[in-house]
Amino acid sequence: MYGEFGFMSLVALFRKYSDQIPRRAVVADLGSGVGRPLFAAACLRPDIARCVGVEKLRGLHELAGELRALYDAELAPVLGAHPPRVELHRGDFLGGVEWRGADVVLVNSAIFRDELFDATEARAAEVLTPGALVVTLRRGFRDCGHEGACWELLEATERRQSWGMSTVYVHRRTRNSPRRTGIED
Ligand SMILES: C[S@@+](CC[C@H](N)C(=O)[O-])C[C@H]1O[C@@H](n2cnc3c(N)ncnc32)[C@H](O)[C@@H]1O
Repeated sequence: MYGEFGFMSLVALFRKYSDQIPRRAVVADLGSGVGRPLFAAACLRPDIARCVGVEKLRGLHELAGELRALYDAELAPVLGAHPPRVELHRGDFLGGVEWRGADVVLVNSAIFRDELFDATEARAAEVLTPGALVVTLRRGFRDCGHEGACWELLEATERRQSWGMSTVYVHRRTRNSPRRTGIED
């Protein structure tokens, strides 16, 4: 199944956390598919510096490249003098460093198996800095809401996605160090 973050779900997110997303922020989508959330983020926050997608499947990555060409030609020019740059990387987001230090990370984890979800949480704790927001679907991070936790859960709200309703979990990286070791660079 290929599902996408719902556009209005992203509208709600960028509106609600507007104050916590700095100017010239970096937004990443882990498992970015054809890239729709990246283009949506660019429209919703034209002051973003970069929208970074990482997708492992060649066909989806190539389609995203075609859409990026349309974005560059038709949309970016009307988003201001310094429109967000959309970067597309093909590969496994668990292994790469393209999203290191991102300010907002979208993870459409609705059908992630538990091992992938847990590895994503561990990797995010390693490569993101305090204050970074991570948005997951269907389930939230484990290391959350206790003393020493790497994540603070800001909300868990049902929102419409492309396939129907799903719970959106918004986490904020704390200052605590990860306790578990993840993937080495
Ligand atoms: C449900 S789609 C979501 C696409 C996009 N994020 C959206 O919401 O519109 C999830 C995507 O994650 C990709 N994916 C899953 N595991 C991945 C991994 N470890 N590295 C890179 N991409 C991955 C899949 O190939 C799929 O395209």
